[in-house]
Amino acid sequence: MRRISVELGSRSYSVLVGSGLLGGLGATLRAEGLKQSDAFVITNADVGGLYYEKVRDELAAAGFRSVVRHDIPASEEGKNWEEFSKTCAAMLAAFPDANAVPLVLLLGGGVVGDLGGFAAAVFRRGVPFVQLPTSLLAAVDSSVGGKVAVNFGGVKNIMGAFSQPRLVVCDLDMLRTLSPREVRSGTAEIIKYGAVCSASLFEQLERGDLEKLLALDADVLTDVVAQCVQLKADVVQQDEHDKLGIRNVLNFGHTIGHAIELSAFNPSIANADERRAAAPSHGESIAIGMIAATHLSRLLGMVDESFEKRLRDLIVRAKLPTSLSDFRAKQPSPIPDHADLFDRIVRAMQMDKKFRDGKNLFVLPTDVGAWAPRENVDWALVHECVHGVLA
Ligand SMILES: NC(=O)c1ccc[n+]([C@@H]2O[C@H](COP(=O)([O-])OP(=O)(O)OC[C@H]3O[C@@H](n4cnc5c(N)ncnc54)[C@H](O)[C@@H]3O)[C@@H](O)[C@H]2O)c1
Ligand SMILES: [Zn+2]
Repeated sequence: MRRISVELGSRSYSVLVGSGLLGGLGATLRAEGLKQSDAFVITNADVGGLYYEKVRDELAAAGFRSVVRHDIPASEEGKNWEEFSKTCAAMLAAFPDANAVPLVLLLGGGVVGDLGGFAAAVFRRGVPFVQLPTSLLAAVDSSVGGKVAVNFGGVKNIMGAFSQPRLVVCDLDMLRTLSPREVRSGTAEIIKYGAVCSASLFEQLERGDLEKLLALDADVLTDVVAQCVQLKADVVQQDEHDKLGIRNVLNFGHTIGHAIELSAFNPSIANADERRAAAPSHGESIAIGMIAATHLSRLLGMVDESFEKRLRDLIVRAKLPTSLSDFRAKQPSPIPDHADLFDRIVRAMQMDKKFRDGKNLFVLPTDVGAWAPRENVDWALVHECVHGVLA
């Protein structure tokens, strides 16, 4: 097992990464000083169906009196105010006594972690919570750092808070039930860390560990997840509340990526599976967003062609999309035309929470493992890059 410490003074906590950590979870919580006697587990039908009973039994064995389960929908569509409100209502119904402070456990991917973390952050002005990430993306990124939120009014993560977990327990065995598509999505954030935070991680992926990650090779998985958590901890420790510009690095690929994630989603597709197949996931959107941001950096003369090629090669090797074309082909007719989708993406960028004074903030790669922020980017260049990933 690897232990990474996130050093934030009184809000410090550990991230435990390893195989088999769900066994002995209750004892781990106690050993980490979590003494609560009640637990509220937020999960979804899929993940809960696989792991909830194990979690419940571990908690019971460690002396938890009551363990209450609450499910939210199993996708980004459920990361909304209504589900957040239902979650708070369920917590209040389970623990009406003001003296009852449950330990909230977030058993799932980034959606469970973000929505459930936000509910825990505001219920009774904050109750302790523990992240139990079950997706690769949540393991390397969303479970660490204390940004919790839901989407609202067509804007990603616009209602939220900074609230650090008390502990993160990342049992890598749980990743074995992920679909290949979800594993690939997680690698997008890993490529992100390598591209702008760590040349050695980027080169490690290039040398063949990317394929080992996709195959969930236990040693590579442990090593890479721990590296990413350490990279995130380093950033969060310097700029916990995103005030100094340092934390922006984690947003590489996200300015255009978030807009793509929101705009390509088509609520008029009635079948949920078809709806999800026709829109890029968070990780897939970030892959496309990294392609667009890197091209922007090139147009601005901030990075050379070889970086652009190396990044694209990794994204292709991860079987992640480099444009929206495959998703558009899965849309029912009439397929949204290029101009319409383009307008929606640009509008979504202008509603991004980092859009200020008529300008978006772009995190642009300058070399492998290095980046620079840019605010005053000519819209014509941004448009060119967005057009480039629509084709
Ligand atoms: N807070 C942050 O700092 C931060 C950082 C990055 C991303 N995010 C957010 O994270 C979200 C994306 O997270 P995600 O990619 O984990 O999506 P997700 O939570 O929707 O999970 C993806 C899918 O995988 C399923 N799943 C998860 N774990 C599983 C398992 N072990 N076995 C089988 N199925 C499993 C889920 O049920 C879901 O259908 C986005 O909303 C994004 O905005 C937040
Ligand atoms: Zn992300």
